[in-house]
Amino acid sequence: MENIQNKEIRADIPLLNEIIYLDAASTTPTPEPVINAMVDYFRNFNANTGRGAYKTAVKSTVAFDNARGKIANFINCVSNEVIFTKNTTEAINIVANGIEFKKGDSIIVPNIEHHSNFLPWLNLKKHGINLKIIKANKYGVIDSSDVEKALDDTTKLITTTHVSNSIGSCQPIYEIGDIAEANDALYMVDAAQSAGHMKLDVKETKADFVAVPGHKGLLGPVGTGFLYCKSDIAEQLKPINLGGGTVSDVSEDDFKLEPVPARFEGGTQNIAGIIGLGSAVDYIERIGIENIEKHSMKLTKYMYEGINNMDNTICYGDPENIHGIVAFNIDGMNSHDVAKILDELKNICVRSGYHCAIPAIKHVGADALGGTVRASVHYYNTKEEIDILIETVNEVSRFAGA
Ligand SMILES: Cc1ncc(COP(=O)(O)O)c(C=O)c1O
Repeated sequence: MENIQNKEIRADIPLLNEIIYLDAASTTPTPEPVINAMVDYFRNFNANTGRGAYKTAVKSTVAFDNARGKIANFINCVSNEVIFTKNTTEAINIVANGIEFKKGDSIIVPNIEHHSNFLPWLNLKKHGINLKIIKANKYGVIDSSDVEKALDDTTKLITTTHVSNSIGSCQPIYEIGDIAEANDALYMVDAAQSAGHMKLDVKETKADFVAVPGHKGLLGPVGTGFLYCKSDIAEQLKPINLGGGTVSDVSEDDFKLEPVPARFEGGTQNIAGIIGLGSAVDYIERIGIENIEKHSMKLTKYMYEGINNMDNTICYGDPENIHGIVAFNIDGMNSHDVAKILDELKNICVRSGYHCAIPAIKHVGADALGGTVRASVHYYNTKEEIDILIETVNEVSRFAGA
């Protein structure tokens, strides 16, 4: 089958004719084939999964399970290692609240994480769990040797993001995976900004847990995500959302859990969304993950250089180590004002502010300007769009400097 080209994906997302969408790091617009897969479910076999014996319910269950299989195949694991969630945050909370930590255990976490990979761990402090916080360098990159130095007998888990949402920096997850394995620590990767943007083989990461959104790089619908959880570890994890679908037997005194992953998927799932996500994975495979990675890297570098070359702008990452995201500011201008002006002038959609990563923004010293302006790309973006961004930022920065 032919690869999908940049032009074709643009035709599949009509919204891109109206705006310059540079906010993939928040969420991505949904391509038509993904919408169509969901419409097909709603129109033709809208029934609950894993419950009814009638044909329509069986069809819905099969489509849902097929989506799980496609995702597992895509990230190189087996189906029952994929636990569906509504987003990345829920996936991380399943782990943070499902591990039986004991008082005195410690967790290693960098200081530049998204709040979703920081607060669930910080919250454990009240149960006597210690956080060992690793400091990133000025470009938002952590050094794996710092992780090694922080390890001791109390270390239960190491967690890191793969690509930082606030700076775009790519972390040495493979080196950290080796360190975790050699030291018998659990390892969690927050792949919110890498899945669908670059190859993600969960076995290669050596992670026990990988949290993934469906609605960002994978081009799936909002309200979808999943947790990869290594099968032997999943058996030790306590489900936090008990109810329908999670048990195989119940008495007045006790209950018996369903096998993994059903025990973690309490209640009716986002069936249409997950079927859409399965179709999104097909779509990504038809583009080719290597093509996405190459295209995004090219645009990222081009965008970084174009913006960083202006007299009164600052870009925050290391251009050699950022992926898909350029965070910047114009001297003396609040990041929200810049974002609003870009939208008003040229319908450019970028995010501004703290990006749910207050410690990271403080770390790079951007809090004085209300955070950063963040432009983030995917395969549907073009060089022409980046040219318009650069020209418009230049115009605003000259005005600000005048
Ligand atoms: C690195 C990172 N982790 C976690 C999240 C939370 O993702 P979600 O909104 O899917 O819960 C985000 C969202 O932007 C993110 O960028």
